[in-house]
Amino acid sequence: MSLAIALHVLSAVVWVGGMFFAYMAMRPAVIEVVEASQRGTLWCRTLSRFFRWVWLAIILLLVTGYWMVFSVFGGMAGAGWHIHAMQGLGLIMMLLFFHVYFAPFRRLKQAVAEKDPQEGGRRVGQIRRLVGINLILGLVVIVVGAGGRYL
Ligand code: HEM
Repeated sequence: MSLAIALHVLSAVVWVGGMFFAYMAMRPAVIEVVEASQRGTLWCRTLSRFFRWVWLAIILLLVTGYWMVFSVFGGMAGAGWHIHAMQGLGLIMMLLFFHVYFAPFRRLKQAVAEKDPQEGGRRVGQIRRLVGINLILGLVVIVVGAGGRYL
């Protein structure tokens, strides 16, 4: 259990903390400093690296989360409301990430390869909106996951 919860929380920190940094700190700085024509390439390179860690975080969250549910809590029936809420919101976050990865992010990579900064900028805007939603969901999931058992 201690290893599972440690990996689970580390994965949550990497994913949600990474989104917080990208959205709250890096995005405004990029707008201030980097020319519009270069932003797509910068985000493409940055997100390519970050998304590899998100894939790993998602795999670890699922494996450790369901391991805890079935080995420690005695299955879904034995799990409290906070675990159901975490699981439901967590799965929505994962679907949103898959959408970002396979739709706007894939198009962003194409736009960068074809040297089309306008299209790249559009895709960065789409990714920003979806990551903003996932960031809010992620913060809620952390509050629910960590605090839910004490309510
Ligand atoms: C999607 C399937 C998921 C399952 C089945 C799952 C399952 C669990 C379980 C069983 C616990 C232990 C709860 C307890 O000790 O009362 C837990 C804790 C936690 N989970 Fe999840 N989880 C999932 C997704 C997520 C996601 C996506 C995040 C955040 C992005 C997250 C963040 C947390 C946090 C912060 C804790 C609290 C750790 C602590 O304070 O002990 N979980 N989860």
